[in-house]
Amino acid sequence: MKRVSFLFMLILLIGGLFACSNSQSTSTNTTEEKKEESSSEPIVIKFSHVTAPDSPKGKAADLFKQLVEERTKGRVKVEVYPSSQLFDDDKAIQELPRNTVQLIAPSTTKLVSYDPAFQIVDMPFLFTSDKAVYKFWDGEGGQILSKKLEKYNIKVLAMWANGDKHFTNSKRPLKKPADFKGLKFRTQTGKVLDEQFAALGASAVPMGFSEVYVALQQGTVDGQENTFNNIDTQGYAEVQKYLTVSGHGRLDYLLLTNTKFWDSLPEDVRKTLEEVIVEVTEQQRKWSEELNKASYEKLKASGMEVYELTKEDIEEFQKAMQPVYEKFADSIGQDLIELAKKANE
Ligand code: LMR
Repeated sequence: MKRVSFLFMLILLIGGLFACSNSQSTSTNTTEEKKEESSSEPIVIKFSHVTAPDSPKGKAADLFKQLVEERTKGRVKVEVYPSSQLFDDDKAIQELPRNTVQLIAPSTTKLVSYDPAFQIVDMPFLFTSDKAVYKFWDGEGGQILSKKLEKYNIKVLAMWANGDKHFTNSKRPLKKPADFKGLKFRTQTGKVLDEQFAALGASAVPMGFSEVYVALQQGTVDGQENTFNNIDTQGYAEVQKYLTVSGHGRLDYLLLTNTKFWDSLPEDVRKTLEEVIVEVTEQQRKWSEELNKASYEKLKASGMEVYELTKEDIEEFQKAMQPVYEKFADSIGQDLIELAKKANE
């Protein structure tokens, strides 16, 4: 009897040991499987922007996604959220340092919340060509401004273009500074744009891009300023009768990422992304020039009444807007204004 129970105990003990070692190896396997799974999980980059998918920025974001996913063979997945689907610009700019979004491309004006110098693009009639704008941002001007974002954990990856801004409104043709008197214009943000409209006897109402169409439609504001392509792709011709071709300011973008996120990427992945950005930036700038031309033709054919400012008109506007330089040259920085002028040469 004793021998039987001893045998029984022995069997139980061996069985227990076996089960234990088995379960240990299962748990090791699961950890390994998990490790493998997580290393094969793609790095996800959320790219949020506010314009239409067929705008120069929208097309570039999609091209970036395509090239990155192809070239990293799926190691990186890019989720593009156009048309303010994820965030409007102000929210995106706040969220980027928190890494809830990894890529954004807001208009440079909107970075005024970090430093007033970003309003340089709004200084009236400062930049005289697309090439001058590229030269400024790709050179010392861009470096000085990019540095201002470093302490906020934000890294500038490239400057993407849109183009010159023009005025639209629903009330009357705007040919001379006096025509602006009493009108309300939607602006992106910032004191420079407030002053620009104040200098013309008009007022500025800042609001997010996604709210502009309805504000124009409901008459909350009479007009707005934007590039041909934004005016076209946002359908403003449906709610604005008059277009004044003025080219009085710029609307361009900075492609921004979260510095800590960027630095944490495997080196080969980061290198591939950087190469793609160079390629996409070149194409993006070409698109901005081509699509703005095409949009201008569409706007002329849309039934809008179009007036192109003459050289003499522009001189009058420059004179009327001079207070903007008097008030803001110091906060923007005389050095940056000089660099912009040099880029025009
Ligand atoms: C605007 O708010 O008008 C622009 O910044 C939109 C854009 O991104 O082009």
